[in-house]
Amino acid sequence: MPDMPPFLLERYFARYEFQARFLLSASDCESLTQREVLDLASPEALGLWENLALGYTESAGHPRLREAVAGLYRTIQPEDVLVAAPEEAILLAMLALLSPGDEVVVLEPAYQSLHEIARWIGCRVHAWRLAPESGGWALDLDGLKSLLSKKPRLLVVNFPNNPTGYLPARGEFAAILQMAERSGVTVFSDEMYRGLEYSPDQQLPAACDRIENCLSLSGMSKAYSLPGLRIGWLATRSRALLEKIRALKDYTTICSSAPSEILSIAALGAGEQILARNQRIIQDNLEAASACFARRADLFTWYPPRAGSVAFPAWNGAEDVGAFCQRMVAEQGVMVVPGSLFDGGDGHFRIGLGRRNFREALARFESALPK
Ligand SMILES: Cc1ncc(COP(=O)(O)O)c(C=O)c1O
Repeated sequence: MPDMPPFLLERYFARYEFQARFLLSASDCESLTQREVLDLASPEALGLWENLALGYTESAGHPRLREAVAGLYRTIQPEDVLVAAPEEAILLAMLALLSPGDEVVVLEPAYQSLHEIARWIGCRVHAWRLAPESGGWALDLDGLKSLLSKKPRLLVVNFPNNPTGYLPARGEFAAILQMAERSGVTVFSDEMYRGLEYSPDQQLPAACDRIENCLSLSGMSKAYSLPGLRIGWLATRSRALLEKIRALKDYTTICSSAPSEILSIAALGAGEQILARNQRIIQDNLEAASACFARRADLFTWYPPRAGSVAFPAWNGAEDVGAFCQRMVAEQGVMVVPGSLFDGGDGHFRIGLGRRNFREALARFESALPK
């Protein structure tokens, strides 16, 4: 096997996340404390927590957790759910689905593992690019049609998208799934930011509720603001595929962390409340971001996100965007992630809208901009 290329975004975070005073680019929402989660827990979830034995757990996930997850979907049964850390789920799904020489189509810009693992396996990866256009991002459905004519093994999409905050209209998403279904390609739908729409009518159906030949990925890290739990899941009506992925989990974590599973059960029991809290934080921060980028339209092009907790403005200043981000963290202690860490994101940088100190971080950022 060739060496796995470094995960650029994760290396960047490893370097600065616990050093920089302000994280202006974090993709998750303000974390809840363990106390807050337990305060939200139902009596049943509290009982599970207090009587928890710290042994191995069921490999596919705690039955109550799979039940709670299934409740988030229309057609999914607990047996259609596999619990794993989100990043682990991406790795295991790619290993289960792909072989060297397979063609894979990936919506880009994207979170690196969504295309890198396929490339590492020896697949031919084709980027289906979101195009920047005035006032936002645009999908090229004709482009997808022509990529699907290559008969790829896998189509990878991520809506709401990291890093752009792009979300297609429901009709467009239906068209994507219909094209996928007709072509016979398997769909990997990364839905980690689902639940962070700016109005309820924007929410797309989960892909696994719409088509069978598909995996939906979600988890506690982003929309539920509990990344430290390391709990996510795959949902699919394709049970043979799910079992193949579960068998691979025997070689990674075997089972998920027992305390994390119970805290996830507790948090999902109050899921609506947590999502509403995070949506409020994002709306408030979005207002500040739009105003800042409008004030400095001489330096930035603002691409308003349509959903989720991240946005991907363009930097039009004199220095290279990488140098600009480097200067921000070195001189101001404000970590900003350059777009070069996402394939095809050159010239852009990511901002994260989910943290409570966003306004403070943004003020610091703005005060350090060239006059
Ligand atoms: C689109 C997307 N998918 C998956 C993940 C992985 O989630 P986790 O870090 O919780 O494993 C991330 C994390 O940033 C992400 O942005």
